[in-house]
Amino acid sequence: MCGIVGYIGNKKAIPVLINGLSKLEYRGYDSAGVSVNENGVLKVIKCKGRLSCLEDRLEAEKLEGCMGIGHTRWATHGEPNDVNSHPHISQSGEIAVVHNGIIENYMQIKEFLAGQGYTFQSETDTEVIAHLVEYYYEGSLVDAVMKVIDEIEGSYALGVLCRDEQDMFVCARKDSPLIIGLGEGENFIASDIPAILEYTRNIYILEDKEVAILKRDSVQVFNSLGAPVKKEVFKVDWNVEAAEKGGFEHFMMKEMYEEPKVVRDTINPRIQNGELVLDSINITKEDIDKLDKIYIVACGTAYHAGVIGKYIIERLCRIPVEVDVASEFRYRDPLISERNMTIIISQSGETLDTLFALREARKGGSRILSIVNVVGSSIARDSDDVLYTWAGPEIAVASTKAYNTQLAALYLVALDLGLKKGTITKEQVNSILDEIKKIPSGIEEILKYKDGIQKFAHAHFNSKSIFFIGRSLDYALSMEGSLKLKEISYIHSEAYAGGELKHGTIALIEKGTLVVCPMTQDCLFEKMVSNIREVKARGAVVLAITQEKHREELEKTADMVLTIPDVDSLVAPISAVTPLQLFAYYMAIERGCDVDKPRNLAKSVTVE
Ligand code: G6P
Repeated sequence: MCGIVGYIGNKKAIPVLINGLSKLEYRGYDSAGVSVNENGVLKVIKCKGRLSCLEDRLEAEKLEGCMGIGHTRWATHGEPNDVNSHPHISQSGEIAVVHNGIIENYMQIKEFLAGQGYTFQSETDTEVIAHLVEYYYEGSLVDAVMKVIDEIEGSYALGVLCRDEQDMFVCARKDSPLIIGLGEGENFIASDIPAILEYTRNIYILEDKEVAILKRDSVQVFNSLGAPVKKEVFKVDWNVEAAEKGGFEHFMMKEMYEEPKVVRDTINPRIQNGELVLDSINITKEDIDKLDKIYIVACGTAYHAGVIGKYIIERLCRIPVEVDVASEFRYRDPLISERNMTIIISQSGETLDTLFALREARKGGSRILSIVNVVGSSIARDSDDVLYTWAGPEIAVASTKAYNTQLAALYLVALDLGLKKGTITKEQVNSILDEIKKIPSGIEEILKYKDGIQKFAHAHFNSKSIFFIGRSLDYALSMEGSLKLKEISYIHSEAYAGGELKHGTIALIEKGTLVVCPMTQDCLFEKMVSNIREVKARGAVVLAITQEKHREELEKTADMVLTIPDVDSLVAPISAVTPLQLFAYYMAIERGCDVDKPRNLAKSVTVE
């Protein structure tokens, strides 16, 4: 999604803006632009394409100002082209704006402004903001922005420059992320921390409807009523290297290599003297006994983690669990009551649909427990209990390590709830924890045979359509394996429950069709072997993933067997996803795809 960077200080703004935007490239974008105030003139340079195109244009036209805003755009209103790119400039060149989000009532505002004589260059919703700020501007930029945010509906993170205000600029946010970086003699705004981490570790996290004035030596924050707000400084405790490739060709590979560490980081602090300790979760036995249903709500990969969560929580806690994609949940008028708990899962903590699903659940009286990676993100702040996944920054658009940690966190939550509720004993908890502790070294083993996966991908990268089938937890895993493949290799793929195969999908199996079968559930192993026979009888090529103990047997049926070190079926998905991620990665590489920045996708989806 769109990325915003803003700077005021003593340095030239352009290199800082470009450097910051390059750190936000992972969010996904199709055009980029910058604006600086150069001696009372707002200069704008913007274009369709990668940041390198913008840099080429900047080479030709040197911009010298020390205050500016920059933007990478992920098109929503209007195709990706030079005109629709941000920043947008107002009618008389008084105001320049960058925006992330969607202004829902922009048509009404556009009509109003047209009536006032304003003309529009672009098809975007954002352009109305530039004109409207100009319309309200009477010598105070912050007052004009306040009036505008009173009028606009929807979501926004905004950076606003004014031609006549050469020593300050203004930013604001609602439902789209924006942080302020606090430097010495310089200050920054950005959509995400990596953009400014090179310059400062001290940040303010803006709350909804807060507006800030940034000057070289000060930052003032106001609430929606215009009253000053005293913000707490949030100290970023991870370093620049964590958000860089560190010798790997792609972030995605680097992040898969981090899986053992981040799973350890997520589970180890929560196991103290052999006991499960989730002190960030204050839910008591009485609270749990009251629950008649748990909802799990998320998007994308986090949703797939939620599907595993449903199986695990129902099995260990005997509480019915419904799992929903957030965009469906928020509009389906779900039956929520105080007897529910909603588990929200999100790597970024900023996915707009997920955030609004959270609010929908809260409105109905549900308790909110979130599993989130980004500390201080909107979802984390809006929750009753937060269990952080310590995955560190995840840059590749296709989520990998965050998923492993989301699963680890979900298991810990299920164990905690089950133990408190009395549906599992302490001994059972300890023995499951012992199995979970085996996962990190298991993933280390899996990563060692990546070359074999690459060879297999080399032989199959021309596949037109690939099916993933699995049962129970392996079905949930299949969904994630299939998504990973689609996202980065652009091969059509579907995930099916093994037992559902003969109700339709099998009609699509023909000679050479690749079928991927995660088979980590011991009690369903034979059923899956039968499914493999059915597809092989119709010419399919089968790639199976299972525990080492089943290798010999499975090699008799499948064409290629990838194994994970032996581990209890219950927790196996946490490591069994890694071969699926590697498979997707190498398929994408073989096809020459841009693994870290797949077409049309965004890392942090902050619009509906
Ligand atoms: C986007 C990303 C996915 C991610 C999903 C949910 O679609 O490309 O990788 O799984 O959003 O994001 P979240 O940050 O809420 O986990």
